[in-house]
Amino acid sequence: MKGELFELELLGGNTERRYRKLRPEVEAMPWGTLDLSGYPEAELVRGRRAWTGAAYQEHRTGVACALTLRLLIEARAPLDLVAVATRFPLDELVHVELCARMAMELGGGTELVHDPKHLVLEPDPDLSPLVRAAECVVRYFCVGEALSIPLIRATWHSARHALPRAVLGRIIKDEAAHGTFGFTFLDWAGPSLTPEDKAHLGRHADLAISDVRALWRAVADDPRAPSDGDLLGWLRTDHYLALARSALESQVMRPLEARGIPVTRFAEA
Ligand SMILES: [Fe+2]
Ligand SMILES: [Fe+2]
Repeated sequence: MKGELFELELLGGNTERRYRKLRPEVEAMPWGTLDLSGYPEAELVRGRRAWTGAAYQEHRTGVACALTLRLLIEARAPLDLVAVATRFPLDELVHVELCARMAMELGGGTELVHDPKHLVLEPDPDLSPLVRAAECVVRYFCVGEALSIPLIRATWHSARHALPRAVLGRIIKDEAAHGTFGFTFLDWAGPSLTPEDKAHLGRHADLAISDVRALWRAVADDPRAPSDGDLLGWLRTDHYLALARSALESQVMRPLEARGIPVTRFAEA
């Protein structure tokens, strides 16, 4: 793949000051307080890689939130519902910064090459504005965001150091609103969706779920030892995967099925 390095910068000056004013809690976190002495180098590299990967996933989610926001406006979704979603891209940018700074705390980000033209899947332009918006809401919010809440919450519980707790605590607060948003949208849009529309949304839920399962397989292939859930703020692999599977059932599949979105479970592994 021809790609570009995933690197970010801050402009600084007045622009950074305005940004800091929007989210003062970021600078208030206990940066620089991790004691890394006695931590094996290989674990630190692993932590740097994990937080760099998390920053990249938050970056992708930022693109997904911005795309969904545009489609919601084009679909003339209720103004208050869209207004609530306008803060999501900013939330995700803050999450990118938090994860990137965690990698820096452990010694620096690791090299990550990506293709900025293919960060998210755009819906078919021939579909109606409502179905295009609903497709993105289902893929990114009803699957992606709803699934991440219990996982990040459990990671937060397992982290004992103040810094990862502050970072993960902030992310959970924001994600709680993101995770419920998708189903609030579906409750509004449901009466306007035809059975064909719902079948289309079911196929896209399946796609998003099979992407998530591919990520889990990568996690299972590179398991974490049981003892390192503290400093790095990461869960042990068996716990993470068990929780992920039950969250997929309770937070994603059942709520989608309750709204008439047919999830087929074709990608069950
Ligand atoms: Fe996020
Ligand atoms: Fe989010």
